[in-house]
Amino acid sequence: MRTPYFSRLQALPLGMALCGVSALAEPLPTPAALQELLKAPPQAVKVIEPHLSIQGEPSVQRAYLGYPAAQVLRQLLGVDWNKAPASEIEFRALDGFVARIPAERFAKYHAYLVFGLAEPQAPFSVDNKAQGEKDVPLGPYYLVWDNLAAPELLAEGGAQWPYQVAQISLRQASPAVLLPAGMSSEQWGEQAALAQKFCLSCHQINGFGGDKMPLNLAVRAKLLDERTWRVWLLTPLAFKPRTSMPALPDSMAPAEREAIAAKLHAYLKALPVLP
Ligand code: HEC
Repeated sequence: MRTPYFSRLQALPLGMALCGVSALAEPLPTPAALQELLKAPPQAVKVIEPHLSIQGEPSVQRAYLGYPAAQVLRQLLGVDWNKAPASEIEFRALDGFVARIPAERFAKYHAYLVFGLAEPQAPFSVDNKAQGEKDVPLGPYYLVWDNLAAPELLAEGGAQWPYQVAQISLRQASPAVLLPAGMSSEQWGEQAALAQKFCLSCHQINGFGGDKMPLNLAVRAKLLDERTWRVWLLTPLAFKPRTSMPALPDSMAPAEREAIAAKLHAYLKALPVLP
């Protein structure tokens, strides 16, 4: 059997994964090399593009060209990529964005790793309306989800749609950083998962997370009062016109957004700050 492309990463000791060490990750193969590895041509996939679809306006569909993510992950990470409990797939982007997506999500929903639009001449870019950014390049790879088949995904916005993906690796979930001694997963597990899903792609908790805006939320949350915190999470543009901090997706019900903001604040205030 073929040696998994990223087999070294699977052997990464938990401690190293916790520190966010990524030096071992290798760049992804080109689309042509990927086609050769998968022995199948790319396919077109139509989705509702969350970065272009604004609450209250008609949703925007787009057709991309790429490969089923589960096939790519199996090819690159090895046949056991989704077997270990609490596995997460880390997608590291050129712009410092890091999405960590639980492996089981790929069994529940269909994702595709795309490298272009199905329409041949169209530029592989998008306007990121939630972040006020125009013509953002999506390559080398973009992770999209079949939300036409699973409309419940629409409420999440683009948080699990990393673009400019250059590296993929297999990681263990990081309870030691997100749930340190004294913070049980019964009490804080849901909050930690919310922080992972909506915040840690750009920010950090005690050194764990993304590099897009590497602010330690465990520190910052303690400095901001309830009201300021809510404004930053729910309507950041009210603080700073043109900020690229995205609001919690406004496709969620208002009461749910409020509840998530409050849960995150309580959790981050309770988290100890580590040097
Ligand atoms: C796509 C990247 C991204 C995501 C995701 C994101 N942020 Fe931000 N955030 C930013 C950027 C960029 C800034 C700086 C904004 C500025 O100054 O214009 C920022 C600023 C902030 C600030 C204000 C910091 C200050 O100056 O006091 C807070 C608080 C904050 N983010 C919390 C969060 C929380 C909590 C989440 C998750 C619900 C989150 N952010 C998700 C990019 C992001």
